[in-house]
Amino acid sequence: MTTPRSITVRVPAKVNAQLAVGAARPDGFHDLANVFLAVGLYDEVTVTPADELRVTCEGPGADQVPLDRTNLAARAAEALAARYGRRAGVHLHIAKDIPVAGGMAGGSADGAAALVACDALWGTGASRAELLDICAELGSDVPFSLVGGAALGTGRGEKLQELPVGGTFHWVFAVADGGLSTPAVYGEFDRLTPEAPAPEASAALLEALRTGDAAALAGALANDLQPAALSLFPSLADTLRTGTAAGALAGIVSGSGPTTAFLVRDPESAGRVAEALRASGTCRTARVAASPAPGATVTGPRP
Ligand code: C5P
Repeated sequence: MTTPRSITVRVPAKVNAQLAVGAARPDGFHDLANVFLAVGLYDEVTVTPADELRVTCEGPGADQVPLDRTNLAARAAEALAARYGRRAGVHLHIAKDIPVAGGMAGGSADGAAALVACDALWGTGASRAELLDICAELGSDVPFSLVGGAALGTGRGEKLQELPVGGTFHWVFAVADGGLSTPAVYGEFDRLTPEAPAPEASAALLEALRTGDAAALAGALANDLQPAALSLFPSLADTLRTGTAAGALAGIVSGSGPTTAFLVRDPESAGRVAEALRASGTCRTARVAASPAPGATVTGPRP
């Protein structure tokens, strides 16, 4: 067998159908009941053998992506190399399509993709459980990027239970001008919510996912970080109003924001809502995508 020259992995964005947040823990993280749904907006990470670890990035917002060792893709390559006693001599190229710093887990996605790509390139033979373990060390959302589909994340979001999904859900994502820092949003949550109750997944929401009922899912969407995101980024309220006035079933801040997510009935409605959002001037752009989507998947080298 010859060593492959490069491996490409495609990895999806996520939206949180429910993000229930508890009080801050002694380690600074928050216990969550986090219902993740992977959506069909993808980054692609290509890994090629190189003398030194190097990261490059192209695509919308690429100039905001760090290319040093703080990039989760670089950290993933280093973590896997350390575990298998080898050097992380690779060039990681990120083709970015997931909104940067938008609350859609783009950085986490790149970490999961780099891990799967390096694993395939190096032929480490790591088990799925080992890869998920490394993902959890890299960040709370990284294990879900590996798994995709739909899952309930507990603990700080890294303990996953896969969820059945009975249909396709259609979304419009309004990409904001600017980003929000996740720690800053959690800090604002702490300030606004001095006595947060223990987080619990909503039975109605899990049932709506299981049956593929978009109207029921719309009624159950919930994000405890939304008041904090709106407090730090008040104009998101205008974006939310615009999307719902244009016919979305419901609108919500995605994760820690500032991307807002609109659940719509069908692809036609998605097109109308996206157009209204683009025309409104209340966001930088709008993207249409469906869920669920598969997790990190090797797509190349292509024949
Ligand atoms: O795990 P990750 O590195 O993605 O988390 C980024 C930041 O988000 C943490 O440093 C913390 O401030 C906040 N966070 C949290 N509770 C979680 C997940 C993230 O407070 N469950």
